[in-house]
Amino acid sequence: MNDFTYYMPTRVFWGEGCLARQGDAISRYGTRALVVTGKTSARASGAMDDIAGALDRNGIPFAVFDEVEANPSIETARRAGAAARSFDADFILAAGGGSPLDAGKAAAVLAGNECADDDLFSGNFPNPVLPVIAIPTTAGTGSEATPYSILTDTAKKTKRNLKSDRLFPVLAFLDPRYTFSLSREATASTAIDALTHALEGYLSTRATPASDMFALRSMALLGPALTKLSASAPGREDRENYLYASFLAGCVIAQTGTTVLHAMGYHLTIFHGVEHGRANGLLLVPYLRHVMAAQLGRVREVLDTLGCGDLAGLGRMLGPLMKRDVNLADGQIDEYARIAVQSPSAVCTLPPPTAGDIRAMYRDAVGMKKIRKDE
Ligand SMILES: [Fe+2]
Repeated sequence: MNDFTYYMPTRVFWGEGCLARQGDAISRYGTRALVVTGKTSARASGAMDDIAGALDRNGIPFAVFDEVEANPSIETARRAGAAARSFDADFILAAGGGSPLDAGKAAAVLAGNECADDDLFSGNFPNPVLPVIAIPTTAGTGSEATPYSILTDTAKKTKRNLKSDRLFPVLAFLDPRYTFSLSREATASTAIDALTHALEGYLSTRATPASDMFALRSMALLGPALTKLSASAPGREDRENYLYASFLAGCVIAQTGTTVLHAMGYHLTIFHGVEHGRANGLLLVPYLRHVMAAQLGRVREVLDTLGCGDLAGLGRMLGPLMKRDVNLADGQIDEYARIAVQSPSAVCTLPPPTAGDIRAMYRDAVGMKKIRKDE
């Protein structure tokens, strides 16, 4: 066995009602809090009521920053950081999908570090980072278990990854009830995101025996659940499985990071409005075809674990969950491939893709629309 390290310092509370039962754990992180969230999901899911209850019980005054948009911008994170600073918050409660969690993590850095973008993304922020408590209301990002904050650089029209061990949340409360009100559409997209985290981690050059264990369990839960999702709305046990699998997949990428699949998918999100999970899903079969050239055995293990049999089976599983086609012009493919091949995650892909490989994967993905249902 090769040498490896494993680090995931977040204390995780799991179960329905965990914030009501065990929320007093937040009191050790200070006496004033900023809640960072989006416009709807924390309130619609019931998480906001539980958060307010836990803060009130512990006598912690709080302010709410609820302006986090999907694929949050650096500017939004800066405004959330300023809100934490002006409220004199000791810690941040980030509640919602991946966007509020990621914005909350960046705000925790920016509250005490007024640094330029390049310093921020190179981890050059010398002052303390506020503790973050993560409360996910979707099952996909796994951000509650990662040291990453993915933000959109609107000027450069790209997503940038803020990475620091200081960004691991100190606490995470995983209550499956918060995901009960998610639409089937949102459930599918976020679950495909989780699936790609587990799968990419398993196929990454940075995979370890520990990350493999989490990845295999995550994929074993997600394969059957996604197959079922095509035919019926998820039940209570399915919701638990999604949230647990998403958390496990977060533990995977905390160790491995993602690969070129995510780097490619970002362009479909930023320039074509495809949700993050579906963007990865659109590219998944061509990506696996590429990886097979060097890792045939590992890809077969992935397909077996998912219960798909082969790539065509995976295409059939994902097809009904895709919402719409994306048509890329050759010029767009060339441009996106040029950027993706320079992504740090591309070097963790085995075999390492050339720009030509990435162009081929994009072209292959356009062909996938033949087996997708129309919206
Ligand atoms: Fe992702």
